[in-house]
Amino acid sequence: MKILKFKNGDEMPAIGLGTWKSGKEEVKEAVKIALNNGYRHIDCAATYGNEDAIGEAFSEVFNEGKIKREEVWITSKLWNNAHKKEDVIPALKKTLKDLQLDYLDLYLIHWPVAFKPDVSFPENDEDYLSLEEAPLIETWNMMLEAKKQGLVKHVGVSNFSTMKLEELIEEASENPEMNQVELHPYLQQNELLEFCSKNKIHVTAFSPLGSGDRPDGMKAKDEPSLLENPVIKKIAKKHGASAGQILIKWSEMRGTAVIPKSTNESRIAENIQSTGVNLDESDLKEIADLDKHFRYVTGEFFVTKGNSYENIYDEDDYKS
Ligand code: A2P
Repeated sequence: MKILKFKNGDEMPAIGLGTWKSGKEEVKEAVKIALNNGYRHIDCAATYGNEDAIGEAFSEVFNEGKIKREEVWITSKLWNNAHKKEDVIPALKKTLKDLQLDYLDLYLIHWPVAFKPDVSFPENDEDYLSLEEAPLIETWNMMLEAKKQGLVKHVGVSNFSTMKLEELIEEASENPEMNQVELHPYLQQNELLEFCSKNKIHVTAFSPLGSGDRPDGMKAKDEPSLLENPVIKKIAKKHGASAGQILIKWSEMRGTAVIPKSTNESRIAENIQSTGVNLDESDLKEIADLDKHFRYVTGEFFVTKGNSYENIYDEDDYKS
């Protein structure tokens, strides 16, 4: 498996287990299965509502002694209601407590969106703070402070456009080390990848399989399926692999990390076995041609009438 190397020499395994949408009842077992199948990278977030169950899995596996804490790359994310400077470190400490850890390998600002502190998920304009009220640079400076205090080894962001990264880099004393964004053959984001590479920011691909288990309210009508795409299926057949393995291998080959979610024992194993698949030039060319700038996670759930979070990805062709 490829690794992503950080400036201080730390190494992040490219394939990690995603835990968004994994229910508390299943995720503990899923994490244990993943670690026992060779995963050494688990992606978490406070808002997924399951960090305490994941913490139980970590505690049991690390206490068993076969796998050590320092052998596993663990990421979590700051939720949007803790962007105020005084709220960042307490939110991180809650995540560490739930995950039963002393430190994280990577902590990300989950979205460039801020809510008022007592709001878990906003229902109207009053529930938000604008980026003027909660400037990203202030949140970022506390992320750096968390790193200084040894609570996290690396810090980064998620769902940041090139424009938001540029603005942050201009003001920041240290750049983000990671940007975690939606990436798959329908949303290849080559420009963002180039920008990140030039600025030595690693990238993680979320929703690499098209996130078919999102709640219906987050789905558009007639969404295209990645796993059922005829080109992906044809390439899978050619290599005796599954469609999921092709999608994961494609991400790995681009030099990004990738975090397929599964709570199913055989699919958890299948997904990490994608490292054994070898895509050739013609496969890569065919997959490159599938790009159509289609997002599964539109961010529209952050837009209430009249708030300032429309066009969250700062896209030129944004239509409201
Ligand atoms: P399950 O958890 O039952 O395996 P994403 O990572 O893009 O969010 O996609 C997650 C969705 O894809 C979940 O519904 C998950 O279901 C499913 N999934 C995970 N791995 C595979 C695979 N190898 N083949 C088909 N579906 C998969």
